[in-house]
Amino acid sequence: MAVNFKYVVTEIPPKEGLVMVPTERLQTGIALPFNVYIKDNTVIKKIFNKGNILNSLFLEILKDKGINNVYIDKGEIKSLELYLTQKKPKRKIQDIKIAYSNYSFFKEKHHQIDRKLILPNSKVNFSIYNLKGFELKKIVNATIDNPVTIESNLLELDGDFLIEDKDIPLYEEYIKNLAEFLKKENLSEEDKRILNNLLLKENSKTLMKELLKEPRSGEKIKKVNEMVDNIINQIIEEPESIYSLLTLKGYDYYTYTHSINVGVLAIGLGIQIKMDKDSIYKLGVGAILHDLGKADIPHEILNKQGKLTDTEYQIIKQHVIRGYNILENNKDIPKESFVALLQHHEKLTGRGYPFGLKGDEIKLFGRITAIVDCYDALTTRRPYKAPLTPFFSLSLISKEKENYDRELLKEFVKMLGNVR
Ligand SMILES: [Fe+2]
Ligand SMILES: [Fe+2]
Repeated sequence: MAVNFKYVVTEIPPKEGLVMVPTERLQTGIALPFNVYIKDNTVIKKIFNKGNILNSLFLEILKDKGINNVYIDKGEIKSLELYLTQKKPKRKIQDIKIAYSNYSFFKEKHHQIDRKLILPNSKVNFSIYNLKGFELKKIVNATIDNPVTIESNLLELDGDFLIEDKDIPLYEEYIKNLAEFLKKENLSEEDKRILNNLLLKENSKTLMKELLKEPRSGEKIKKVNEMVDNIINQIIEEPESIYSLLTLKGYDYYTYTHSINVGVLAIGLGIQIKMDKDSIYKLGVGAILHDLGKADIPHEILNKQGKLTDTEYQIIKQHVIRGYNILENNKDIPKESFVALLQHHEKLTGRGYPFGLKGDEIKLFGRITAIVDCYDALTTRRPYKAPLTPFFSLSLISKEKENYDRELLKEFVKMLGNVR
C-alpha cells in the first residue's frame, strides 16, 4: 500500500507568473518578504515560505542541489527590489518578549481546535480566541447560558483558533453533536471520510492534552492505546486519511498536536516499509508518547521565544528520561515502544542525546521516530519563526544524512510524495 502525501507538498503556484532571481543574490539573516520557488522540470515547487530566515547552511544546500536560480511571484517585484538592497536589521527579540510576557501562560490555559469544525451558522456555547503571532483576541464571546451563532466572516481570520481549557468538555460535546447532525445530512463519501478523520484528530488532541496534564494517569494511557488502534485502522483502510489526521499550517507549536503528528507520521512510515500490524501498533504508542516527559518541564522554558540558555537546554533534554520514568512501570505500554521514546533524539553519528548512542545501537523505532520528529518540528510555525516548507525540511534532514537512516529517509520522502 502506498501512502501518497502529495497534498502536503503541492503548493498552488503564483497566478501572476514568476521572476527569476540568481540564488547567489539571496541574503542570509533577513526574513524573506516573499515565498521562493524553484522549477523542477515543469513542476513549480515552493522551497521557502515568506518569513523564513536563510543561513549559510541553507545556501549550501541549494548549491549542492545545483539550484542556481530561484523564482518569486511577479507581483512581489517591489519587495524584491527592497530586499536586494536591504541591510541586515538587528532583530528586536527583546521588544517581543515585553509585548508578550504572558504568552506561555496564555498558551497553557488554551487549547487549539480545528477551525474546519467551526461551521458557519452553528451555535457554540464556549468562547473562541484567535492567536496570531503574539496576539490573542477573543473572537466569540459565548457561555452555556448565552450561546452564539457563528458568522461566516469569522472563519476568514488568519491564525490559530483556541478555546479555554475549561471549555474542552463543551467542545467535545459540540463536535459530537455536529457529527450526529451531519450524519443525517446527505454528505458525500469523501466529506464523511474527512469529517471522521477530523473528529478522530480532535479527540486525539484533547486526550493528549489531558495526558500531558496528568501523565501518570493509567486510565488515560489505556485510552491512548485505543486511540493508536483507531488511527492505525483508519490509515490502513484509507491511506489518504493521514493528511486530515495531521495538524498542518498551525500558527504555533503545541506539544499535543506535535505528539499526534509524530504518531501519525510514524504509523504512516511503518505502513510504508510494510511492518506488521503489531509492530506498527507498538511503534505508534511509542511515537505518540515520545515527548510525554515534557509534561514535567516548566512551560516558561518549553514556550520560550528565541534562544534557550545552556541551562534551559539541559532541562529540555531531560524530557526523554523523564518520559521514561513516568511510563516505565505502566503495564499497558509494550516494552518495544520505549525504544521510540528513549531514542528519538539519538543520532547515528553519536551526537544525539541522552545516551549518545551510535549506529546499530539505535534501533528501528528510534530511527523512525527521530526522522518524523525532526520533520514535524521543522515544518511547524512558531510565533517568531515561519515554518520551513516540506521540501526544504527534507533537504535539511538529508543534508545531515549521516545522522539519520538513509533507507528510512528515502521511504519517508517517497511517502510524502514526489518532492525531489
Ligand atoms: Fe523530544
Ligand atoms: Fe518531539
